[in-house]
Amino acid sequence: MRSGEKAIIGIMVCSVALLVWLKGQKTALDDENLEVPFYSTASKEVSDRAAKLIHELNCKKCHSLWGVRDLSQAVPAPALDGMGMFRDEEWLFNYFSAENPQDILPSRLKPEYRMPSFADLSLQERKDLASYVVSLKVYDWYFEDAKKARYEKLTGKDYEEK
Ligand code: HEC
Repeated sequence: MRSGEKAIIGIMVCSVALLVWLKGQKTALDDENLEVPFYSTASKEVSDRAAKLIHELNCKKCHSLWGVRDLSQAVPAPALDGMGMFRDEEWLFNYFSAENPQDILPSRLKPEYRMPSFADLSLQERKDLASYVVSLKVYDWYFEDAKKARYEKLTGKDYEEK
């Protein structure tokens, strides 16, 4: 093989390698910057019933969900997005059923901003809320951000200083 041919083959191999690498880069970027970091694994029935409750009970007055919250309110409650990465269904059901949720999760906030009791809801309603909230997940690439945000909302401290 002449050296000119070798050079051409060399350039072709490098170009293919570069293209493969670029394609990999593009996918990583797409995942991290363009996708919504949240998802739910709930069935349509549970989602529909829970959406109605969440609307009626005004959870978004204090919490963000699907990145949305009531901007006229300034309660530093943790986001509901991704909550299923931190709590299991039983914990959530007990929390929503508690006469005083602060016995389960202490609050650093003024009483009017704290998580209210939903003990008066029907059994089915508390079950629906628990199974919907546990279905709220975030993708792995967003998990560190979600942990940090939740820690800071619950404690009022910087995550790094922990
Ligand atoms: C008045 C504001 C307010 C409303 C309304 C409210 N919450 Fe909360 N919630 C909070 C606060 C603040 C916390 C953090 C604990 C505390 O300070 O009591 C919290 C905590 C939680 C937690 C546990 C958070 C964690 O990180 O472990 C869940 C789950 C939750 N709320 C779900 C809901 C759902 C579902 C609704 C509607 C049915 C709702 N909340 C309505 C303020 C509120």
